[in-house]
Amino acid sequence: KKIVLAYSGGLDTSVILPWLKGRYPGVKLVCFAAELGQGDELDGIEKKAYASGADEVVVKDLRKEFAEQYCFPMIRAHAVYESDYLLGTSIARPLIAKHQVMVAKQTKADAVGHGATGKGNDQVRFELTARALNPKLKIISPWKDPVFIEDGLTDRETAIDYAKKHKIPIDQTTKKIYSRDRNLWHISHEGAEIEDPATEPNWKNCLVMSVPVEKAPAKAQYVTVTFEKGNPVAVDGKDFKGAGHELIARLNNIGGQHAVGQTVLTENRLVGMKSRGVYETPGGTILYEAHKALEQLCLERDLWHEKIRLATRYAELTYNGQWFHPLREALQSFMDEANKVITGTVKVKLYKGTAMAVEADSPQSLYDPELASFAMDGYDITAARGFIDLYGLPMQVRGMRQKVKK
Ligand code: ARG
Ligand code: SIN
Repeated sequence: KKIVLAYSGGLDTSVILPWLKGRYPGVKLVCFAAELGQGDELDGIEKKAYASGADEVVVKDLRKEFAEQYCFPMIRAHAVYESDYLLGTSIARPLIAKHQVMVAKQTKADAVGHGATGKGNDQVRFELTARALNPKLKIISPWKDPVFIEDGLTDRETAIDYAKKHKIPIDQTTKKIYSRDRNLWHISHEGAEIEDPATEPNWKNCLVMSVPVEKAPAKAQYVTVTFEKGNPVAVDGKDFKGAGHELIARLNNIGGQHAVGQTVLTENRLVGMKSRGVYETPGGTILYEAHKALEQLCLERDLWHEKIRLATRYAELTYNGQWFHPLREALQSFMDEANKVITGTVKVKLYKGTAMAVEADSPQSLYDPELASFAMDGYDITAARGFIDLYGLPMQVRGMRQKVKK
């Protein structure tokens, strides 16, 4: 019996190691940690894992794959969940779970496990991915195991006591603490005062990737982003092709200084309840703004409108852990087809928490200054008469036959 654990070094995954050793005597534990650009969280991770009871530790640097094979496709789709959430945690889980399944094969493990709670989205994302990619693997999920709960492990506070008792190295103290998830795309903060929608978050306490908006400079800064077929390839003329993770990191740095990409929202979790979170997605917000400006310029109207509708569905699939669902894959083909013309450069103005695309230029632009201007040439204005006659005919007929509410 061998379990590959998705290991972050955080509280929720650390406590499950000694617990699993007790629950399944003789079990071997492989800790798998993915480097996704979570800052210094990975420092000393191997030592920490062994100190917590790991038998093997595997660390993989997945930043490039994360940026180019997960974040970029999501940008092409322009996926946003419930109007505000740029899906930073949702998009990372399938990648971690995919590599966890690969590590299970390499280490000849028969199970994968994770430290996500039984009330959240993350459990679903880990488990759906494992099911899709290796249906034979067993899935171990201590936080929803009745024995775990009987052992008194019911929340982060009891977990801290448990960790102390088992001499597991953790950073947290028993006071209320944020549950965070960081990678190169974003950081999320949940818990503590954020759980009260009637209270403004304590920005100074929680922000990590960006400054509070009050601290942002009173002077605007411009940044240009170049796209090829919907993928960002350069920032301020500097080429980042093949280094998507560095491109995002660069934009995080610039955007973070201007408090760009901060949101607080109450969202619907897949498992039913509403929850509230603070998100910082500085680079991602700049990329979305720039990508949108090129879509406005280059996409034919009906294609774009349909794409917007499908982006909502794509976002739901991503949020709900269905990245490896055939519908997401089919929608991706549609999104990628539409993105064939998303090539060009956009200048974005950053100022006090906002990112606004103020200039956009593309060889694929459908914008025709002659058509758009008020001049008469290039457009048979008399044809508009017939167009409106026929387009308005159904409404006119109804107006004659039936009473229309004013
Ligand atoms: N609510 C967000 C989501 O479902 C963030 C979850 C953060 N996860 C965590 N383990 N702290 O995508
Ligand atoms: C968790 O419950 O483990 C974190 C939050 C979430 O998954 O939605």
